[in-house]
Amino acid sequence: MHKHNYTIRREMPSDIEAIDQVTKAAFASAAYSSGTESFIIRSLRENGQLAVSLVAEEEGVLIGHVAMSAVIISSGNEGWFGLGPVSVIPSKQGSGVGSGLIRAAIDALKELHAAGCVVLGEPSYYGRFGFSSDARLQYLHAPAEYFQVQSFTGNIPEGTVEYDDSFNVTS
Ligand SMILES: CC(C)(COP(=O)(O)OP(=O)(O)OC[C@H]1O[C@@H](n2cnc3c(N)ncnc32)[C@H](O)[C@@H]1OP(=O)(O)O)[C@@H](O)C(=O)NCCC(=O)NCCS
Repeated sequence: MHKHNYTIRREMPSDIEAIDQVTKAAFASAAYSSGTESFIIRSLRENGQLAVSLVAEEEGVLIGHVAMSAVIISSGNEGWFGLGPVSVIPSKQGSGVGSGLIRAAIDALKELHAAGCVVLGEPSYYGRFGFSSDARLQYLHAPAEYFQVQSFTGNIPEGTVEYDDSFNVTS
C-alpha cells in the first residue's frame, strides 16, 4: 500500500510553473484532452477569472491541481461556477487526490457563497461529488449526460451555460 500524505492549499505565484507541468502531465494520458488545458488555466488567471485554484502538495512536490471559474447562464443568474480543469499527475492517479481536490474546491465555492457548480466530464466519476444532469440547465456543446450540475441553494436556473472565453485559447 502506498502511504499518501498530501495537503491541499491555495495556489501561490511560485506554483504557476508547476501547475502547468502537472496539468500537461495529467492530460497527456487523458482520454479527452484539448492539449490546451494549461493555457486555459493561465488565461483564466491573467484575466482575473480563476475564482478557485487549489494545489495538492506532497513532500514539497505539486501532484494535483483544480480550478473553478465563473460561467455565464443565459437566464442571467449569477454565482455559478464551472469545475475544471482538474489534474493529478499519472503516478498519483486513482488514490483519492483528485477527489480531495474536487471536494475542497466545492467547499471553497460554498465559502464564496456561490449558487452552484457545473462540470463537464464522466457522469460516473462526478456523480459522487453531488453532480447530476438536470434538464433545466444545459450545455449545448457536449452530449447532455456529460454535463452535470449541483445547486448550493436548491434553485436550478433554466438556461444554457457558457464557460469563460479563456476556454477557447489555443496557446
Ligand atoms: C480525473 C482525475 C483528476 C481524477 O483524479 P484521481 O486522483 O485519479 O481520482 P481519485 O483517486 O480521487 O478517484 C478515483 C476514482 O475515479 C475514477 N476515475 C478517475 N479518473 C476518471 C475518469 N477520467 N473517468 C472516469 N472515472 C475516473 C477511478 O476509476 C476511481 O473510481 P473508483 O473510486 O470507483 O474506483 C485524474 O485521474 C486526472 O488527472 N486525469 C487526467 C486529466 C483529466 O481527465 N481530468 C478530468 C477532466 S477536466
